[in-house]
Amino acid sequence: RILILDFGSQVTQLIARRVREAHVYCEIHPCDVSDAFVREFAPKGVILSGSHMSAWEESTDRAPQAVFELGVPVLGICYGMQTMAQQLGGRVESGQHREFGYAEVRAHGHTRLLEGIEDFRTPEGHGMLKVWMSHGDKVVEMPPGFRLMASTPSCPMAGMADESRGFYAVQFHPEVTHTVQGKRLLSRFVLDICGCRADWVMGNYIDEAVARIREQVGDQEVILGLSGGVDSSVAGALIHKAIGDQLTCVFVDTGLLRLNEGAQVVETFQAHMGMKLIHVDATRRFMDALAGESDPEAKRKIIGREFVHVFQEEAGRLPRAKWLAQGTIYPDVIESAGAKTGKAKTIKSHHNVGGLPDTLHLQLLEPLRELFKDEVRELGVALGLPREMVYRHPFPGPGLGVRILGEVKAEYADLLRQADAIFIEELRNTKGPDGHSWYDLTSQAFAVFLPVKSVGVMGDGRTYEWVVALRAVQTQDFMTAHWAHLPHELLGRVSNRIINEVRGINRVVYDVSGKPPATIEWE
Ligand code: XMP
Repeated sequence: RILILDFGSQVTQLIARRVREAHVYCEIHPCDVSDAFVREFAPKGVILSGSHMSAWEESTDRAPQAVFELGVPVLGICYGMQTMAQQLGGRVESGQHREFGYAEVRAHGHTRLLEGIEDFRTPEGHGMLKVWMSHGDKVVEMPPGFRLMASTPSCPMAGMADESRGFYAVQFHPEVTHTVQGKRLLSRFVLDICGCRADWVMGNYIDEAVARIREQVGDQEVILGLSGGVDSSVAGALIHKAIGDQLTCVFVDTGLLRLNEGAQVVETFQAHMGMKLIHVDATRRFMDALAGESDPEAKRKIIGREFVHVFQEEAGRLPRAKWLAQGTIYPDVIESAGAKTGKAKTIKSHHNVGGLPDTLHLQLLEPLRELFKDEVRELGVALGLPREMVYRHPFPGPGLGVRILGEVKAEYADLLRQADAIFIEELRNTKGPDGHSWYDLTSQAFAVFLPVKSVGVMGDGRTYEWVVALRAVQTQDFMTAHWAHLPHELLGRVSNRIINEVRGINRVVYDVSGKPPATIEWE
């Protein structure tokens, strides 16, 4: 197994992810663990991470000296390279110029780490790597025994190696995808240089996580807010596997969920998985609280607040619960870190159901904190959750509350649910060009209720009814998105069905706006 020592970089988890992708087990621990801890861990290799952007200049954090005395390979990344240089007798200076972003690095010598790994060659025949750099300080003198492994014009020592001891260091970040060959480089390190076997799979992760949860929780009770979304569902299934009936899930029906969602959650978790589930129908309460409010942000706040109240009431009935479980995943961790430094601007205050205040006096249990969405999905399938649930499009915390424009009314929610279900059913049943369904070919698709009436004609009569907009987007990260080019026949069928089957809607429109400038949701 590989030991990753974390010096506080925001991308340390990505190192772990790349190592896991090479099917090698790894653990991340803080950089200030003791020498004894490192020896006892007995890693087959150690990776020293970068440091937090604003901290590296002042940081005096050092790796435990034992790391360099174990006789196993060590890879230093960014700050990890600098501390390695300093601890082994080299010298680091703070740079005049900070270097951020794309860089082309020239490889020197023939090191095992970079052998045969390159993106292109210069006319002079130098092997070059396209990488992502972020540093202010740099190594200016290598420690004894080291040779130059990589350089850029502004960072003459961008990589160094002492192959006799298996010590390697790079100033750039191989863990981020912008470093084209980064994944290969890290897998070369853990497999070929450290000699780890590629035998780690998601099934192992379940065993490890189960053991960790049992150790953390002991015989205490845990409460989880289950939303029916992927993250809380997988967290629930995992914790249930670990501690069974010590877990109670609370599912709050806000009245703003999709068609039959409540019934499905009960069916899956209570009937199928045998979990303890409290199903709270709080529709009335949410509708009353939302009455008269049409501002999107105010609606989000009301929904968030009511959710917390309902959840707190239920938690109050479970006095033995000492833990609050949440389906926080790694991108949430990064996002809230960004929010804390004030870098992220609030476009929409993303209220996630399950984001609860600490007035509950419960300890937090977040077993998915280290995982990325696709890993969470893989884990969900391995835990026996229905594929359809695990690969469902994301659904916002405030639910239909932000898909009914303006004031929310129960009557609108009922119409929207039916229209939305028809759209989703047709997307699932219609195959796209490569044989996948249009549901799988889109990242998110839904109907939006527009509180305007338009004139129509049905049979011999004039109608004057509501409008529904269809939205379907394709995106990698939900930060930018393209509207999906759905076939006209599919759109026509959906429109016909909605207008014929949903009494009260006589017009359907399709949203052809990209993000930016539009957002994915309409509010
Ligand atoms: P936008 O509309 O900002 O959406 O382009 C990007 C992604 O975020 C989801 N979204 C939310 N999720 N609470 C959530 O939990 C919210 O208030 C919220 N608003 C938007 C949206 O569904 C899309 O996936």
